[in-house]
Amino acid sequence: MELPKIDTSRLLLRGFVPEDAPLVQKLAGDKDVAFNALNIPYPFPAESAAVWISTHKKEFAQHKSAIFAIETTSNQEFIGAVGLTTISEINNTAEMGYWLGKSYWNKGFASEAIAALIIFGFEEYKLNKIFATHLKRNAASGKVLMKNGFQVEGILRQHIKHFGKYEDLVHLGLLRQEYQDLHEF
Ligand SMILES: CC(C)(COP(=O)(O)OP(=O)(O)OC[C@H]1O[C@@H](n2cnc3c(N)ncnc32)[C@H](O)[C@@H]1OP(=O)(O)O)[C@@H](O)C(=O)NCCC(=O)NCCS
Repeated sequence: MELPKIDTSRLLLRGFVPEDAPLVQKLAGDKDVAFNALNIPYPFPAESAAVWISTHKKEFAQHKSAIFAIETTSNQEFIGAVGLTTISEINNTAEMGYWLGKSYWNKGFASEAIAALIIFGFEEYKLNKIFATHLKRNAASGKVLMKNGFQVEGILRQHIKHFGKYEDLVHLGLLRQEYQDLHEF
């Protein structure tokens, strides 16, 4: 099975292709993106975008992850990524991750992409829970999750060393029941 294409009002979520690598390298290679994200190395090593993209098909086929490129429908511009990773078929859980190129921040794009991915996770994978973690100081990341129904479950104090500094993490989750209540099934 191929990763499906998902349309939202302003975005197309689609599988990554090798041709996306240069833009991934450019957008994810931005220091401010890496400084706020959890899993983007800085400096972004050459070729790592291509290597990352090359892992997607196998990981999707093995039900380990489903990672989407985000493209604007108005001009087919690649702007970032959103995905479900560490999918567990034992616990029916998955972790949500996302990043956008800096010039696309604060336009509601992440909120819109996350809303679509939540539906995909609960409807296609029949998940019981989607969780996510962000740096405590990254308020925008918390906001896009909470706007989509996620609840804070806890603070992990000084849990990682990021750019040389110990940082607190916020852990959030959205349960299947809460998703159904929000969508009034
Ligand atoms: C986090 C990120 C994905 C948000 O994407 P986005 O498209 O800008 O998000 P949206 O525009 O949908 O929503 C952002 C919300 O945060 C708010 N916000 C932005 N900066 C903020 C700040 N410093 N403090 C509080 N709220 C803030 C915005 O007002 C908006 O809320 P609103 O819709 O109620 O007005 C984007 O900033 C990003 O890619 N950052 C770098 C990578 C990253 O942090 N990834 C997440 C790792 S856990």
